[in-house]
Amino acid sequence: MSSDRTERSEIFSEVLKNIETGILILDLVNRIVFFRNNHAEKCLDFMNTSQDFENLSAMMMTELEQIKNPLVSKSTRAIINCDHRTFAYTIYRLEGFKQYVGVIIQDVTDQSRLEAIDEASEMMNNISYVFSGIRHEIGNPLNSVKMALTVLKNNLPKLSKEEITVYLERMSNDAAKMEALLKSFKNFNMFEKPNTVCVDLVEFYESLTQLLGADVRKKRIKVIIDILPEGRWVKVDTRALQHVSMNILANALDALNGVDNPVLRFSGEAVGSMALLSIIDNGCGMSETLVKSAFKPFYTTKPHGTGLGLVISKKMLSQMNCGIDIQSELGVGTTITLTMPRCPPPGGDSAESKIFI
Ligand SMILES: Nc1ncnc2c1ncn2[C@@H]1O[C@H](COP(=O)(O)OP(=O)(O)OP(=O)(O)O)[C@@H](O)[C@H]1O
Ligand SMILES: [Mg+2]
Repeated sequence: MSSDRTERSEIFSEVLKNIETGILILDLVNRIVFFRNNHAEKCLDFMNTSQDFENLSAMMMTELEQIKNPLVSKSTRAIINCDHRTFAYTIYRLEGFKQYVGVIIQDVTDQSRLEAIDEASEMMNNISYVFSGIRHEIGNPLNSVKMALTVLKNNLPKLSKEEITVYLERMSNDAAKMEALLKSFKNFNMFEKPNTVCVDLVEFYESLTQLLGADVRKKRIKVIIDILPEGRWVKVDTRALQHVSMNILANALDALNGVDNPVLRFSGEAVGSMALLSIIDNGCGMSETLVKSAFKPFYTTKPHGTGLGLVISKKMLSQMNCGIDIQSELGVGTTITLTMPRCPPPGGDSAESKIFI
């Protein structure tokens, strides 16, 4: 039995010595390198690191600190670049062996090269997607203006005053389209440095829906604001949240066109340190494909839409550490959920402060 066990540990030890992953075991009490396999030695050679305990523990100081915390079983992955190669190591706590820690070292050069190529081509794809969108969005009205100008230039004496007015109006509409697009680009860079303050969502959405009063009344939309006290106070930039909410509400109002008993509901709750605010409409809804494409620049189903409303909203939200998510069903309606960091109410209303953890 015992010779069986010895044989087994010899086999394991042989495998560990020759495996293509660097393994180190550090003895933190006696301050020695207890075990080091061939691959670890090779990697550390590449890294030009002297392989004694003191030197290794100095190099891995941050990660060793992390696993001193009894709730942490492994450190974050550290990356070391050396001589055009990339190495990654992680330190693991060895359950039941308090004085030892295990270090796994890997040569991730090929993996990081592939990731860098992937990232670069993803970025190029995104840029060319945006460029083709701009070319299309500005190209169309520009061509239309050029055509109208040619007609006017070649036929001016023959055209009646009414006909000339039609062409001029068309050009003015096209110019307005290009102007709207350029304004959207400006919005894209707005609130780059958000000024976050504690905002009361109930008050915020009450006054925002007042602003939309005429539209809401005309379409006979029932507005319900149902925000729980826990999810009521959030830390955001007020102007950015107003911009985002206006985009979402404009979409909801479009979706509610021609719907029987249109309802717009603002529902709020808290999950941990975040508040979830959902803007729910029972409008036309979106197909699965539409939901997937809604955050793509220039994606629109509207004749006069730029398809930038949600893209800009997402960017503004991410600058304030907030998120946005869409859930929708065709013919049933759409729920847009904003995730925002909670904050205790200013002035510390004791009832609400207690709820905020
Ligand atoms: N509440 C909603 N209900 C149904 N469809 C929606 C809703 N919100 C967004 N969409 C769909 O997502 C698309 C993209 O929305 P986004 O706000 O980005 O652009 P847009 O509304 O088309 O244009 P713009 O915002 O410039 O007027 C819309 O064209 C629409 O098809
Ligand atoms: Mg929109």
